[in-house]
Amino acid sequence: MQKVAINGAGRVGETTAQILAEQETCREIVLIDIREDVPQGVALDIFQTAPFFEFDTRVSGSNDPAAMQGAEVVVITAGVPRKPGMSRSDVLDTNVAVIDGIIEDMMRYAPNAIAIMVTNPVDVLTYRVWQKTGWPRERVLGQAGVLDASRMAAFIALETGFSTRDITTIVLGGHGDTMVPVSRFCTVNGIPVSHFIGEQRLDEIVQRTRGGGAEILALRKNSSAYDAPGASVGAMVDAISHHRNRLLPCVAMLEGEYGQQDTAMGVPCLLSNRGLLRIVDLGLTADEQTMFDESAASVRADIERLKAPG
Ligand SMILES: NC(=O)c1ccc[n+]([C@@H]2O[C@H](COP(=O)([O-])OP(=O)(O)OC[C@H]3O[C@@H](n4cnc5c(N)ncnc54)[C@H](O)[C@@H]3O)[C@@H](O)[C@H]2O)c1
Repeated sequence: MQKVAINGAGRVGETTAQILAEQETCREIVLIDIREDVPQGVALDIFQTAPFFEFDTRVSGSNDPAAMQGAEVVVITAGVPRKPGMSRSDVLDTNVAVIDGIIEDMMRYAPNAIAIMVTNPVDVLTYRVWQKTGWPRERVLGQAGVLDASRMAAFIALETGFSTRDITTIVLGGHGDTMVPVSRFCTVNGIPVSHFIGEQRLDEIVQRTRGGGAEILALRKNSSAYDAPGASVGAMVDAISHHRNRLLPCVAMLEGEYGQQDTAMGVPCLLSNRGLLRIVDLGLTADEQTMFDESAASVRADIERLKAPG
């Protein structure tokens, strides 16, 4: 891949750029931010790590949205993170105003790009990108499930002592307290995780996963998470850039899958160089479907709030 544009050179934007550069996921990364000089400084700082990580990816920063020109992937991390005690929905009004302008710039300068929304509330804002651009759902994705699944994998590794490499987890639904970690698909090298962890403890891990973002926010105090979020976006861009056909939980527009339509939620997505190739419908149990529907209801409430006049 030639070029990735990242809107928002804050914590998540910077970490994403660093990871993409280190992994030479593309030839060129441009960071765009409204803060004068900041994206330029961030980009220079990252590029000065090139001698250590031996990458040839060029990293630049700009305050001009035209710098998005020609990007094949546009990542959106611009906006405010929540503060301790806030839900992701609490920053909806502020962030929708920020991303609406970016969507227009993206349509003007990178009309064929694959968009990856990161700004919260990510499900609703992914929907907003799809709605405003009119792009096919193949090119409109959001990052949530890769991160939530990595959190759950980390908690299982801490509990069992196994390497995270052998742990596979999947988390569906909205990126909030109602997310749906599907424990029966979680394995340690193919062995169901229930073989190693009792039901009650597993339930506690599910709950900790649901509150994974809030836990970091409470500990960090002045910042929400950005290391694992940046790595998660990196995994999505890598799958697209290298045409990997990876099955990753991503926010995507639903057209009947999981019994939902006209909404954006976390589901298993086959990612390739054209973006979303296919959504895999797992066939949930009645309990899982109930949780998924509850999660859908909370995302839909925010979508309706966006649609409401004034
Ligand atoms: N989806 C996820 O899994 C996930 C994970 C972590 C954080 N987030 C979200 O990502 C967003 C960014 O978090 P952060 O910690 O990087 O915040 P941050 O405050 O460090 O960075 C946000 C940046 O956006 C910039 N910005 C604001 N308006 C802009 C505009 N119009 N154009 C370009 N840049 C603009 C700001 O100047 C700032 O540099 C938040 O909404 C946060 O909740 C999502």
